[in-house]
Amino acid sequence: MKKKILIVLLIMGGLLSTLSAQRSFIRISTDETDLVLLVAPNGRLYQGYLGKRLLRETDLDNFSYLASTGTGDSNWEVYPGSGAEDYFEPALAVTHNDGNMATILTYVSSETKKLNSNVTETVIYLKDRVYPTEVVLYFTAYAKENIIKTRSEIKHKEKKPVTIWRYASNMLYFESSRYFLTEFSGDWAKEVRMSTQELLFGKKIIDTKLGSRAAMHTYPFFEVGLDGIPRENEGNVLMGTLGWTGNFQFTFEVDNTGNLRVLSGINPYASAYELKPGEVFSTPEFIFTFSHCGTGKASRNIHDWAREYQLKDGKGDRLTLLNNWEATYFDFDEKKLEELMKEAKSLGVDMFLLDDGWFANKYPRENDRAGLGDWEVNRSKLPDGIPHLVKSAKDADVKFGIWIEPEMVNPKSELFEKHPEWVIHQPNRETYYFRNQLVLDLSNPVVQDYVFGVVDKIMTENPGIAYFKWDCNSPITNVYSPYLKEKQNQLYIDHVRGVYKVFEKVKTKYPNIPMMLCSGGGARCDYEALKYFTEFWCSDTDPIERLYIQWGYSYFFPVKSMAAHVTSWNKSTSLKFRTDVAMMCKLGFDISLKEMDEKELAYCQGAVANYNRLKRVILDGDFYRLISPYETNHTAVMNVSKEKNKAVLYAYDIHPRYGEKLLPVKLQGLDPAKTYKIEEINLIPRTTSRMISNGKSYSGDYLMKVGLNLFTTNRISSRIIEITQQ
Ligand code: DGJ
Repeated sequence: MKKKILIVLLIMGGLLSTLSAQRSFIRISTDETDLVLLVAPNGRLYQGYLGKRLLRETDLDNFSYLASTGTGDSNWEVYPGSGAEDYFEPALAVTHNDGNMATILTYVSSETKKLNSNVTETVIYLKDRVYPTEVVLYFTAYAKENIIKTRSEIKHKEKKPVTIWRYASNMLYFESSRYFLTEFSGDWAKEVRMSTQELLFGKKIIDTKLGSRAAMHTYPFFEVGLDGIPRENEGNVLMGTLGWTGNFQFTFEVDNTGNLRVLSGINPYASAYELKPGEVFSTPEFIFTFSHCGTGKASRNIHDWAREYQLKDGKGDRLTLLNNWEATYFDFDEKKLEELMKEAKSLGVDMFLLDDGWFANKYPRENDRAGLGDWEVNRSKLPDGIPHLVKSAKDADVKFGIWIEPEMVNPKSELFEKHPEWVIHQPNRETYYFRNQLVLDLSNPVVQDYVFGVVDKIMTENPGIAYFKWDCNSPITNVYSPYLKEKQNQLYIDHVRGVYKVFEKVKTKYPNIPMMLCSGGGARCDYEALKYFTEFWCSDTDPIERLYIQWGYSYFFPVKSMAAHVTSWNKSTSLKFRTDVAMMCKLGFDISLKEMDEKELAYCQGAVANYNRLKRVILDGDFYRLISPYETNHTAVMNVSKEKNKAVLYAYDIHPRYGEKLLPVKLQGLDPAKTYKIEEINLIPRTTSRMISNGKSYSGDYLMKVGLNLFTTNRISSRIIEITQQ
């Protein structure tokens, strides 16, 4: 009997391998896009096609034909190794045990399986015929959202460790007449500024070497417009993002034939990695969408995908909050905090969030020069400890959240005195400080345990804590790991992996606690970290900059994941304007009600009530960018519920010119056949709307074709409109 089964299995195995040998193409499809990979007669894997989904299955035979005659785009190798006949940037580079630096991968097999009715995973196995190096490529296609997520794994069976010095997550090729790259760059308080340039022959690299606060100057996402600059509602555009909370690199290389290669992965800078035999080097996920109708639809697809599959608690609710950072900075005591808790309640938000400054005794956290690392409550500011504050919040009928920055240390701290060997810093040079602090060495498992312990201790002592704001204010400086010793070239990678180990442990033990990812503003904003965080802090900044920042992030992140607070920055702007800007995302306040007059307070209370009422539309609806602040002196965006029965429209005048011609704003995403009522909300108490359309009803068709007059020539003014199906 056993023999028979064995024979059947052998025949089946034979059949499967014969099938895969005959199959010369691999099709990775979403509802809108096909990525077709070809196995050529030389046994290597090439990209045959990336574009609009092909309608006829039989057309794929044309690709098989190209592959079998070897006349396809044979230089478009899917995962090119160094040292072969391709003279451009490789995806993989390995120095083998004998010193040879060439790697050529050939196709072994592949398998495709449906993970559910919307998600298909394709796994492709490659190997070098000369050296025992193996690569596995993973492609996960999300049909409805038109997203492909891809990553690779590298391993080998040589006798001794090999050095890998290129290890891309993915490589894509495009053939077009012109290419336009939109990049996102900036710094604290001016995050994600967008700029577009044409890509001509040669390389354009976007990368970071900052290590921990990695996205401080540039962000792990980009757009490439084919034929023209990326447009909102038309044109072919690639939008890609890397899930890596450390040094990343995107290389855009236009080659000698005018084709574009897009290489995405960890930045290999100072990171030649020693890979032991049998060890698997897993690259981060590169997530991309190739849209054939512009960036607007692509963003909505990314938002849907993120909420459904990637973001922590992507489908859940979000807490509105009052944060004490800008209200008190480091200067607070129990009484002040308790007043703020009551203010939170009176505003109508869900939670009070205690920010920086609550800890450390020997070197009290009175400013940013001391105390980081000593996560004991500061007894002179808060003699009754955190449990008392949690109770006070309960008494005030709000939840309680707390700020931590557990990956960092001030040299003026007991932690540094006790464990200087836990800290990344040079043993033989003068130390340079970024915000007076240093980064803990998360490549060290003992330090990982310590960082997890910070959260675990707070939670064990205060099970009532409802939220964490997890900050990270410094890049890796004085780059030397006392733990890694002679393997410093692994620091940038092992550090990030250590960070993930901690995130994973926190998520496993406290799966339901919402957490904000903060990095001195928005310098951590990637889809790997967001598996562990419900939202990220986009910036500490004034509301005008915020309009550009929220606009920029919205290309890749749903507003639900973007924390936005009303602050005291730029007091020349009205509180209404500041609130109307924050209402666009996950709303919070970073301001004391004492700064408000009676009317302003009533206005804010009304705004919070409106936000709570419209939360599902704002946080889970479809987001439309209507008018760009980069192209006009105004900006407008809107959210439309999935059922198309409710929408929230935001319009801002930034710096209009005298006598400027004001154009109506054409809405998007409504049902043309439905009738909608227009009502301005968030009005200053005892004022009425000046919009002539206020209170009137229009068809969705009219609103989308003719539009509404939303803008004015008033500087820095705003209005929010609720749109309801009649
Ligand atoms: C930087 C953050 O962006 C601020 O919101 C605040 O939490 C401070 N860190 C605290 O040090």
